[in-house]
Amino acid sequence: MLSRDIRRSFIDFYAGRGHAEVASSPLVPRDDPTLLFVNAGMVQFKNYFLGVEQPDSPRAVTSQKCLRVSGKHNDLENVGPSPRHHTFFEMLGNFSFGDYFKEEAIASAWELVTGPWGLRPDHLFATVFEDDDEAEDLWLRISGLPPGRVLRCGEKDNFWAMGETGPCGPCSEIFVDTAPELPEVGFDEGSDSGRYLEIWNLVFMQFERHEDGRSEPLPNPSIDTGAGLERVAAVLQGVDSNYDTDLFGTILTAVAGTAGSEYGRDPEADVSMRVVADHLRAVGFLLADGVLPSNEGRGYVLRRLLRRASRHGMKLGFEEPFLASLLPSLEETFAGHYPELEKAREPSSATVTAEETRFLETVAVGAGKVQQAIEEARAAGGSVLGGEAVFRLYDTFGLPIETVREIAEEEQFGIDEEGFETALAEQRERSRAKSLSGSAMATRPRFGADLAATRFTGYRDLELDARVVDLRTAEGESVVELNGAGLAVFDQTPFYAESGGQVGDVGLLTGNGDEARVLDTFKD
Ligand code: GLY
Repeated sequence: MLSRDIRRSFIDFYAGRGHAEVASSPLVPRDDPTLLFVNAGMVQFKNYFLGVEQPDSPRAVTSQKCLRVSGKHNDLENVGPSPRHHTFFEMLGNFSFGDYFKEEAIASAWELVTGPWGLRPDHLFATVFEDDDEAEDLWLRISGLPPGRVLRCGEKDNFWAMGETGPCGPCSEIFVDTAPELPEVGFDEGSDSGRYLEIWNLVFMQFERHEDGRSEPLPNPSIDTGAGLERVAAVLQGVDSNYDTDLFGTILTAVAGTAGSEYGRDPEADVSMRVVADHLRAVGFLLADGVLPSNEGRGYVLRRLLRRASRHGMKLGFEEPFLASLLPSLEETFAGHYPELEKAREPSSATVTAEETRFLETVAVGAGKVQQAIEEARAAGGSVLGGEAVFRLYDTFGLPIETVREIAEEEQFGIDEEGFETALAEQRERSRAKSLSGSAMATRPRFGADLAATRFTGYRDLELDARVVDLRTAEGESVVELNGAGLAVFDQTPFYAESGGQVGDVGLLTGNGDEARVLDTFKD
């Protein structure tokens, strides 16, 4: 089955059982400050589980775009070496909001995997949470699996939570033996080695976890399931790695073709190709969902992914920006299911090229500076770059810590990561204090009465297209272009200005591919 058929078969199977087909939400969660990115199918339904909002339908099915690069679920470091990990992936899921519970969730999942997906029952295992007698009994009764193939596991594996807070509950996972021709091994050994592969997690949502660690029962026990499309595709297509499925084939062929090489020839180059392919998917979908590269929050994650892909591109021999030329392979892979990629084609391509060009320039200059710092430290008898020195390379030359680390490793030099983190935290604190006191501006110029008052829309909007009507340097001089700290007056704004004892809003200005941070907002 091609991945598009697997996605469709899942959705149709549950739609046929009264589930509303709901489109994937964007990767950026709406109105949820507890998460940087959507990391599971249930995120867009969180309020239904909590009973804060009522769904139109008590059952839903989705194929959800997910990103696991931060917070509780973070797979970034495994991407490249691992055949199974991704930053961006698609999660198939069926959901019950206080409607059916364990029995129907288990029965329907079993029917799908052994029916339309054609997996052999004797190649499957199920796990349940250690004290979940009910789930164990249901599995034994419904599936007919022998007791040795329904296993109890602890909290680490069989209790699922969205994040540090939010809905959570015990879960039950379906595993496939990917090498049934070999003699059976113990479940722990098989799952640790990746031979017994988890393809589907059924979460029995029962609790809400609060910031103070308390858990309270949800208004209604519910179901949230997640099956990684990439893994299911690997199993159903009979390949050993998710990267050998059709979800990656077109992209990897494009990466290898552009590099004038082949995927599967050189294990080291393969790692880099997987990183590029994985990150291209993440970058393409983030841009299509409106995230822009920046030095903070979501934009910073995007920037890091883009730069990491670019660095691995350098290892493959690319000397010029190349990522944008791969975007069509992404569009082709997802044609028909995620139209946002096509809609964002031009701006995405322009942003990727601009960002990559800037990064290549940064690295070209920065690499020399790292070498210099290493030579100096070596001359002084050291074998580790100090935290302050690493921070200077990062802060002054814009070099990502990963790049510094990599160059240092090539020189068999260590870096003081903890010292770097401390210096970074200190700088964040300094810039926060500075923005709060408004002292980023040397003076606050006064504006003439001929400027119309700025229209304030902040009770309604958090984002707005606006026009700059006056622009000043930090010294108050009128300019038409600004590099560095300054002051801008807008015709309209959603930013709340310092007033009545409240500090001014902070945020971002973007336009013409440029970006500026708003450190403070005030009224004249
Ligand atoms: N929410 C289910 C999972 O992510 O596995």
